Amino acid sequence: MSNISAELAKKSLEDFAGIIEKHLLAILPDSSGMEEQVVDAMRYALLAGGKRLRPFLVMQSAGLFEVEIEAARRVAIAIECIHTYSLIHDDLPAMDDDDMRRGKPSVHKQFDEATAILAGDALLTTAFEILAHKNTHKDANVRCELVAALAKAAGAIGMVGGQMIDLKAENQSLQLEQIRRMQQMKTGALIVFSCEAGAILAKVTDERHEALVGYAGDIGLAFQIVDDLLDVESNSEDIGKTAGKDAQAGKATLVSLMGVSEAKRAAEALIEDAVSQLELFDEKADVLRSLANFVLHRAH
Ligand code: IPE
Ligand code: IPE
Ligand code: MG
Ligand code: MG
Ligand code: MG
Repeated sequence: MSNISAELAKKSLEDFAGIIEKHLLAILPDSSGMEEQVVDAMRYALLAGGKRLRPFLVMQSAGLFEVEIEAARRVAIAIECIHTYSLIHDDLPAMDDDDMRRGKPSVHKQFDEATAILAGDALLTTAFEILAHKNTHKDANVRCELVAALAKAAGAIGMVGGQMIDLKAENQSLQLEQIRRMQQMKTGALIVFSCEAGAILAKVTDERHEALVGYAGDIGLAFQIVDDLLDVESNSEDIGKTAGKDAQAGKATLVSLMGVSEAKRAAEALIEDAVSQLELFDEKADVLRSLANFVLHRAH
């Protein structure tokens, strides 16, 4: 199946982003007690915008196997909770120390550091509460599998481990393979989970599951390379976060290692490979094919 332009995915992703917000809002507990501020901070972070790429991937991968929408949506919301938590903590002064996120003050700026830490913690735990609920899947084994896969993707050999490497690598020169591994962990793992979720929900364990994992691994790496390129080439207004931060912090990225043009070529090659992994799917996977190109050409 050939390349499909980014437009199809761009449009469906924008439509989806408008719809998912009310479902994100619905997970917030009603709270008027003394703990109210942490719920306000969760709401602020969740509803601050964002492309909603990961939940969209869940819906698209689930759509390949005709998984029930409500089940897919619950997993989609869980992954967005984890992603949002990762961004809140990523921006903290002890981490990237970034005052701007999604075009608004970061959570620790809008509230305070302690509230930002707690809002992140609460979003992290909420994700697992959502997955464990019986409405996520009637088969408890599937719910357990989702919980285990997300925990692994988010933890010390996934996102958290990648973030540790990212911080340790500041002002050090990593080699290509070390950078790839860091990116696979900090960004790739949650994207792989998002694509795999459809197969887990549908109990599909054959080569279609593998193909989704392969596709997601490629777009996950490409996604972080493009994030690093945007940090260099774009401006804060367009990306909704402080541009030029990576060089300032001495981050190890493919762009710092091989320069802008080589990094772009690496991202292009990954996207080509991602699309080729979807060969065994029919036109139901066209949005995913298009999405691979969106990842490459996105402007924020
Ligand atoms: C930003 O992710 C953090 C990275 C892993 C590069 P996104 O670019 O998906 O952020 P939002 O959700 O659209 O704000
Ligand atoms: C963050 O990478 C990846 C996460 C796991 C949150 P970056 O630090 O490059 O993300 P941005 O540029 O702040 O969104
Ligand atoms: Mg970071
Ligand atoms: Mg950052
Ligand atoms: Mg970045």
